[in-house]
Amino acid sequence: MMPTIFEELESNVQSYARSFPVVFDRAEGATLYDTEGKRYIDFLAGAGTLNYGHNNPVCKQALLDYIAGDGIAHGLDMHTRAKARFMETFQRRILEPRNMDYRLQFTGPTGTNAVEAAMKIARKVTGRQNIIAFTNGFHGVSLGAAAATGNRHHRGGCGVALGGVTRIPYDGYMGSGLDSTRLLEKMLNDNSSGVDAPAAVIVETVQGEGGLNVASTRWLKSLEALCRRHEILLIVDDIQAGCGRTGTFFSFEPAGISPDIVTLSKSLSGFGMPFALVLIKPEHDQWAPGEHNGTFRGNNHAFITAAAAIETYWKDDDFAREVQRKGALLADRLKRIAALGGSGVFHTKGRGMMQGIGCRDGELAGKIVRRCFEDGLVIETSGPDSEVVKILCPLVISDADLNAGLDILERSVRHVLAQHLSMAA
Ligand SMILES: Cc1ncc(COP(=O)(O)O)c(C=O)c1O
Repeated sequence: MMPTIFEELESNVQSYARSFPVVFDRAEGATLYDTEGKRYIDFLAGAGTLNYGHNNPVCKQALLDYIAGDGIAHGLDMHTRAKARFMETFQRRILEPRNMDYRLQFTGPTGTNAVEAAMKIARKVTGRQNIIAFTNGFHGVSLGAAAATGNRHHRGGCGVALGGVTRIPYDGYMGSGLDSTRLLEKMLNDNSSGVDAPAAVIVETVQGEGGLNVASTRWLKSLEALCRRHEILLIVDDIQAGCGRTGTFFSFEPAGISPDIVTLSKSLSGFGMPFALVLIKPEHDQWAPGEHNGTFRGNNHAFITAAAAIETYWKDDDFAREVQRKGALLADRLKRIAALGGSGVFHTKGRGMMQGIGCRDGELAGKIVRRCFEDGLVIETSGPDSEVVKILCPLVISDADLNAGLDILERSVRHVLAQHLSMAA
């Protein structure tokens, strides 16, 4: 067989392409088609970038109209009609109803760039260098963000010492016995703990790449209180868990905390377009003009699709309630699927529509997702040993597709368990 153009030319760095070795052609809603016409249900959704589905019709029409009208496609960070529309919509539909007061910083369009900006401004505002990050946290792979990321594989790829970050156990990391906010408090109060006064704490309320670990409301509140006591800025990285994924627009809403800085990207554009945003409490917006720069700050096409998505899905509580309902359905079915393994093999993890099955080891999880793919389901793993089968389907998925995808997952789990049993016999 001739090597494909991908084998011939594309860098060895490709990763998802290895898990799903077909050529995808088109997509709609929660469905992908490859060039052979095979249909797949998408439980990956661009790693949480397609909350409103592939080619969401509302976003698509808004974008087509904008392009047809010769709207500005690229405008550096200049004021455009598209940007004004996004900002007005975001303020009216997202910030005002939640009594939130933030300045909007448009960074380069990837999540990691938003994280870089968040860490930089926290350091500038406080005049401190250290940042507290958590075990299993994932914040991106550029050097600043990678320093806050736990994953050894990604850290190793950086090739330089990653500094300026102190790692603390995430909620539940040591079981229920250790409240790591108490540990951090003690370390901050101890003149010889070796922990420098931090500029910020950066935290995910549900760790996506880290394996669907969920921080409790009590822990998040305690973390916020600690930040206030020590004049540390609280950064919530809502790049994966935000934009409705956990059942509210911001993942931290149920915890009732008020972060100083919030990072958003992934599903913010609503259409899978590159787009990243940092929300900064006004008193901390101390940037000098152009100090954090970038050619692609604010993607005008993404402004259009993001405004359309927010206007459509966040005009009232209906969509959030739907996500919560589907999250409950997911929890129920996953519990039943996990029970198939008996004790110690599987357990359920996550919150809202960011849930999955923790497997005894990564090998088992790998077998399950590979079998799923053969059966027409695109689904990936996360966690330190890729041991968590993670569901990130579009939030707009129909109950029929959600159940069909879960049926495939269940068949795959049964198949892999049967294989294991016959090997053990
Ligand atoms: C919580 C979180 N932060 C940051 C990032 C980095 O985003 P990007 O891959 O767009 O740089 C990710 C990506 O998965 C993420 O999940």
